[in-house]
Amino acid sequence: MRILVLSGPNLNLLGERETAVYGTTTLAVIEDQVTARAVTIGVDVRFAQSNHEGELIDHLHAARRECDAVVFNPGGYTHTSVALRDAVAAIGIPVVEVHLSNVHARESFRAHSMIAAAARGQVAGFGATSYVLGLEAAAVLASAGGRPASVQPTSSEGGQGGMGGGER
Ligand code: DQA
Repeated sequence: MRILVLSGPNLNLLGERETAVYGTTTLAVIEDQVTARAVTIGVDVRFAQSNHEGELIDHLHAARRECDAVVFNPGGYTHTSVALRDAVAAIGIPVVEVHLSNVHARESFRAHSMIAAAARGQVAGFGATSYVLGLEAAAVLASAGGRPASVQPTSSEGGQGGMGGGER
């Protein structure tokens, strides 16, 4: 199983950027932590980062042929990008949205994600661990061929997922 971990704008500056919010851990260190977990659970993990919306879309498009799932931190585009949301919806493999910070406890504009409804779920607020948890969720989704058994809709409920589940 191959999973792409994709990071959006300004995340290349982690470690020096707004350290009061994002801490001092660099993206390289986060990727090392994800790699360590990926090895443990037997996932082949790939990483990409871009500050450009179109490049992020290209990575998502390529992932539909090359990967089984995507862990995606869209950075500031989370709150603005219809094009990234459309790309997530288009690629047909599970996408897990991740954020280092708790976007729901910050400025009100960060509480809305353009991506969330097209993603399978969201992990936010756990720093680097958000990426590791996102990897684990993506691996479960990919190996289940969709949603994990624990959030399968029952006859008594609709199609909503569990904690942080998407709309599909
Ligand atoms: C972020 C949250 C976004 O609101 C912000 O624009 C980022 C980082 C996070 O990981 O917490 O760039 O995605």
